[in-house]
Amino acid sequence: MPGIQSYLRRMLSGWQPIVVANRPPIDVHPDRSGPARISRGGGGLVTAMSALAQASESVWVACARGPADLELVAGVGEDRVAEVTSETGDFFRVAFVTPDREAYDLYYNQISNPLLWFVQHYLWDLGREPILDGRTWRAWRDGYVEVNRQFAERVVEVAASSRARPLVMTQDYHLYLVPAMVRERLPEARLQHFIHVPWPTPQYWKVIPRGMRDGILTGLLGNDVVGLQTSLDVRNFLMTCEENLGLGVDHRQRIVFYEGRSVWVRAYPISIDISAMEQLVASEGVAEQERQIAAWRPELLILRVDRTDLSKNIVRGFLAYERLLETHPELRSRVVFWAFLQRSRQDLDAYRAYLGAVVSAAARVNRRFQTADWLPIRLEVEENIHKAVAAYKSYDALLVNPIYDGMNLVAKEGVVCNQRDGVLVLSENAGSFEELGANSLAINPFDIDQTAEALHTALTMPRRYRASRARQLRQEVRRNDITRWISNQLQDLNDLLAQ
Ligand code: G6P
Repeated sequence: MPGIQSYLRRMLSGWQPIVVANRPPIDVHPDRSGPARISRGGGGLVTAMSALAQASESVWVACARGPADLELVAGVGEDRVAEVTSETGDFFRVAFVTPDREAYDLYYNQISNPLLWFVQHYLWDLGREPILDGRTWRAWRDGYVEVNRQFAERVVEVAASSRARPLVMTQDYHLYLVPAMVRERLPEARLQHFIHVPWPTPQYWKVIPRGMRDGILTGLLGNDVVGLQTSLDVRNFLMTCEENLGLGVDHRQRIVFYEGRSVWVRAYPISIDISAMEQLVASEGVAEQERQIAAWRPELLILRVDRTDLSKNIVRGFLAYERLLETHPELRSRVVFWAFLQRSRQDLDAYRAYLGAVVSAAARVNRRFQTADWLPIRLEVEENIHKAVAAYKSYDALLVNPIYDGMNLVAKEGVVCNQRDGVLVLSENAGSFEELGANSLAINPFDIDQTAEALHTALTMPRRYRASRARQLRQEVRRNDITRWISNQLQDLNDLLAQ
């Protein structure tokens, strides 16, 4: 991304960018016979922020999450910044935060993922859960607040080692308390937070106790700019400040008035790195996977690619497919539903149970319809970017049916890579629906009859309609590539500074 690099360099001159995120930008793979292998972490955030890292002297503050990370930290020295180059040549400066195991567990496995992730994706069955008690408060205090404090501390240390003014860019729901803590210590810093997940309504936030939800809001209001995925998230955020904290809000200017400051609240829909995706599409690794797919693929291929997360709605996807096979028997033997899944958060009971439910739902549908030479659902649980991209190239219908989702980059990756004018079947509750809804088949993710019908429409749509939708989807994603996501954020920060 040479063009963007010089632009970022210009925008950032005089600033010390500090990216603050739970996940480091690299994955460390220990190797018994030599030094550990270092690969670049997956996901849109790392892609976007590595452009920033390459263009500036930015430092990434992140959590050491296990023995491999800790070993790296031990080699470098706990209070030093690790300078690492991934095997693909990306250079990062990482300042690790090293909470003890218990604090990390309380922060990640008890508050961030089960509590905050669930509230932000409306995942609870409220008649039964959550049940909050003293243990929740302990996890909040000794886990979430404590690890956020350690992050803030590390940010302050990093800032102290540079003469440039700190520009602190905090990411996501793990670190809501960091901005206010940093502002208190570094009043000269500029702070921006991007929230990758949906922002629910003020009423739904009231599921969690007042002390916690007020702490989250006042933590976030330590920022100069709060960034969210969609305009609906922005409206919900403003309403939450107004309703739950009684703050003054300007809905038209999208500003919250807090402690004599104006906090800007803006939507920056995240996207993908188009040129990196195109390189992958043309790579030999993907071509090899395509040859393997060609050996088994049927006439019609429905695809989903997801982490095994409850929000992704994988089981209802299988129920919808079952309905499709019931109501359209002519499709049997001609179609396969390929679920290409990545294991996620298996330390949590709910996630382990969900993976079990996914596997058994697929097995049940297969038992019901399979024949000697046809397996209706192909379920694979594997991390393999080449295979995922080859799958994207090959689908006739891509099912993206999350219950709620911040953005959902699978929808964007899929439409950019696909080469069969495949049709996108998209949940109206995915953040990407704001951009892609007009040229996809919209579904209510809870309605399996409607999802089944949408899949049928997708598989039987005349070529010229499919082609025109696919073209418009590609254009839409290209128009808002990841470089725009990052440059829009920096532009707003610059405008703010100019005031
Ligand atoms: C979502 C979140 C990210 C998170 C990712 C993977 O996209 O917004 O913050 O990193 O899921 O989840 P994990 O818990 O494995 O980091």
